Amino acid sequence: MRDSFENEIPHINFQDVSFSYPGEKENLIFKCNLSIKKQGFWMVLGKNGSGKSTLLKLINGIIKPKTGFIHSNANIGMVFQNPDHQILMPNCRSELLININQNISQNEINKKIQYVLDQVGMTGFEKRPVHTLSGGQKQRLTIASALISNRNFILLDEPTALLDKTSQLKVLQTIKNLTSDHKKPLSALWITHRYEELTYADAVAELKNGFLSSWQEPSKFHYN
Ligand SMILES: Nc1ncnc2c1ncn2[C@@H]1O[C@H](COP(=O)(O)OP(=O)(O)O)[C@@H](O)[C@H]1O
Ligand SMILES: [Mg+2]
Repeated sequence: MRDSFENEIPHINFQDVSFSYPGEKENLIFKCNLSIKKQGFWMVLGKNGSGKSTLLKLINGIIKPKTGFIHSNANIGMVFQNPDHQILMPNCRSELLININQNISQNEINKKIQYVLDQVGMTGFEKRPVHTLSGGQKQRLTIASALISNRNFILLDEPTALLDKTSQLKVLQTIKNLTSDHKKPLSALWITHRYEELTYADAVAELKNGFLSSWQEPSKFHYN
């Protein structure tokens, strides 16, 4: 089950990146120097409209910087706020199948499906119809989809905004476990406006008025 990304540490490096949407004079993102070089669980906190989703679009290349540069070797997977907008198939197995992007034997496919379901705490869910899953289970299925397509960097855009407390904690713990496993380097950048989630992160930054702060330890983090 080896693949080319297996042992590579994913990294992302912004150099003075500024961005504004067409027609807007003011920069929404200003001289941003986001840098992620180590494996870990990274969080960016920001209020509604502060440009968090825009930052993720810059990272995954959906939009380009107005000025500045972005370098990355990461193979990026996305998890959005609403899993119903992202899951396409009727059950867990078929959803994972459409995310396997290589020609491998049936036996390997079955092993991979079991492996990624184990990794997100959904052992035995293979045949479960998606409509019977909780919101948190759906989010963990989208994370499993990212894993099965060999992503080594997962961007999560307010993934718990629609979840109850129990599901929220399970999704947080799933990402914590995955990003702590040094056998298969995986990083996650988690966008949130929920302060209480920060304790799960290895490092936290705040996006405010176009500026991204430097990385801080969650225990020392203060709102500006
Ligand atoms: N495609 C777009 N075109 C023009 N303006 C946009 C577009 N997408 C977002 N914006 C504006 O950019 C600002 C930041 O949006 P966004 O990155 O979605 O913030 P957040 O995710 O932090 O809520 C908002 O004022 C929003 O209205
Ligand atoms: Mg957003």
